[in-house]
Amino acid sequence: MRSFAGRDILSLKDFERNEFFRVFEVAEQLEPIARNRRNTDILKEKTLVTAFYQPSTRTRLAHESAMIRLGGQVTGFADAKMTRAGDFYQESIKDTVKMLEFYGDVIVMRHFQQGAPAEAAKWASIPVINGGDGWGEHPTQILTDFYTVLREKGRLDGLKWLAVGDMRMRTMHSLAYGLSQFDCPITFVSPPDMSLSDDFKAELKGMSLDFKEAEHVEQAIAEADVILVEPVVQPDYTKSRDERGDDVNLTPANYKITRDLLENKAKSDAILLHSLPRMDEIPPDVDITKWSRYWQEAFNGVVMRMALLSLVLGKNE
Ligand code: CP
Repeated sequence: MRSFAGRDILSLKDFERNEFFRVFEVAEQLEPIARNRRNTDILKEKTLVTAFYQPSTRTRLAHESAMIRLGGQVTGFADAKMTRAGDFYQESIKDTVKMLEFYGDVIVMRHFQQGAPAEAAKWASIPVINGGDGWGEHPTQILTDFYTVLREKGRLDGLKWLAVGDMRMRTMHSLAYGLSQFDCPITFVSPPDMSLSDDFKAELKGMSLDFKEAEHVEQAIAEADVILVEPVVQPDYTKSRDERGDDVNLTPANYKITRDLLENKAKSDAILLHSLPRMDEIPPDVDITKWSRYWQEAFNGVVMRMALLSLVLGKNE
């Protein structure tokens, strides 16, 4: 297995099966630290730099919380408008990263341009973690989801997935790439204008992913062990800022997971994931049901970032 020390986490396309299990193993070892709300000194000599060009609640704060739990320091920005990248100068990724690499030991970057974290990794002498790049990928979110499934179901192989939402989304790309390493058939349900592109389908076939598409969640929910939902009413991920108007559409029933649907059609032991934020695709009355696991995902989001920071900073060799 390749070493994680010094490595960038940019995509799940280049993750090998045994590397997933190595990350899960480290996450499991570190999980008690987060569960017991302790801070340790595992990364006490290290600093995380956050470079967020797009809004985030979970990804940025989970990385920061993970670093603090491991005894490290955090610096960075949550809004590029307050930096030279976001004002008159429009400072390039290269020039920005050539500064950031001296301010810490690992960078987590979210950007509205697909490939921006990869561009950063080209110039940085320290590891770069992709915190979501345009429509590209969101590897740390899907690693969190896989870890949640492993903890909740005890395995990944042999589980059937249903993914509902906009298939152009970065989470869906990382999900499909990641599942190609497991025995996990998946059904994708999306509006026609948000469906898997032909190029992406060809790529997934080349990766031997067992997938099919359906028009309505009712056609696929009964056989699903894991239901992963994302919004179909959502912003443009290629924009640096997005002001939401009042005329927000409602989610059609085809792409909505209601309590009634779960009670009448879903497996009793299926689990429901959502990376959040949500619109109305999962109504709040689903929160307190036996299916929902998205709050567990939130906790696991910190655990997973602890594992990744610890691994790329060479603490688990
Ligand atoms: N799931 C996720 O990426 O959330 P944030 O946009 O709040 O980071």
